[in-house]
Amino acid sequence: MEKLIYTGKAKQMWSTDDENILRVVYMDQATALNGKKKDQIEGKGHVNNEISTLIFEYLAKNAIPTHFIKKISSTEELVKKVKIFPLEFVTRNIAAGHFATRFGVEEGLAFKKPVEETYYKSDELDDPFMNESQALALEIATETELQSIWQISRKVNVLLTKLFEKAGMQLVDFKLEFGCLTDGTIVLADEFSPDNCRLWDLTTKKHMDKDVYRRELGDITSVYEEVLRRLRNELAKE
Ligand code: C5P
Repeated sequence: MEKLIYTGKAKQMWSTDDENILRVVYMDQATALNGKKKDQIEGKGHVNNEISTLIFEYLAKNAIPTHFIKKISSTEELVKKVKIFPLEFVTRNIAAGHFATRFGVEEGLAFKKPVEETYYKSDELDDPFMNESQALALEIATETELQSIWQISRKVNVLLTKLFEKAGMQLVDFKLEFGCLTDGTIVLADEFSPDNCRLWDLTTKKHMDKDVYRRELGDITSVYEEVLRRLRNELAKE
């Protein structure tokens, strides 16, 4: 019997007959401001599942270890069960969002070297910023684990910056999550979609990510579908 293990803001995780495999269901839901803004958006679950599948398959092809197994329907995928590190790993190539507001800089400032930040995953505490020594003090991860995670994140940034650029988009920033398989291997988990990254059109700088929803700039599903279309076109050439 499949059991609902977890309901997040935009996904559900279900157990399967195999104790090492979970089924992820992408929901037609968008949230912002840590769940304070919430809406049903038809078609969003499908488009995020499609985008995340393309990205995880592309990363796996390029030697990035991930939890992804396969897409099984338009809104579902199978993934390896992992023990998630309760940290969000954010990489920023260009100033935007909280970086811009926190430090009073214009959105669009390109960094010479990517900025790396970690946040503690806690809805009650509003995902506070957490530096490495704080994460070590609370034994959330070891130094070696954090090093391995940032090594993988940097490779992901190089691969996806190039891929999105070829597809006509700038990868401004993104958030990754990581987990451990039962044998201790660290793998990229969660999803990669315009819900957890910022993408700007290369020429017009138009927002092509969740800022469209956060800032009420237009119809999020059609923007995400445009991201999917561009990615598909580019990956067909690879
Ligand atoms: O809001 P902020 O500027 O810190 O977000 C940086 C990046 O991390 C953005 O791409 C955002 O979508 C992503 N993020 C996320 N989940 C969070 C916080 C940020 O996916 N809880």
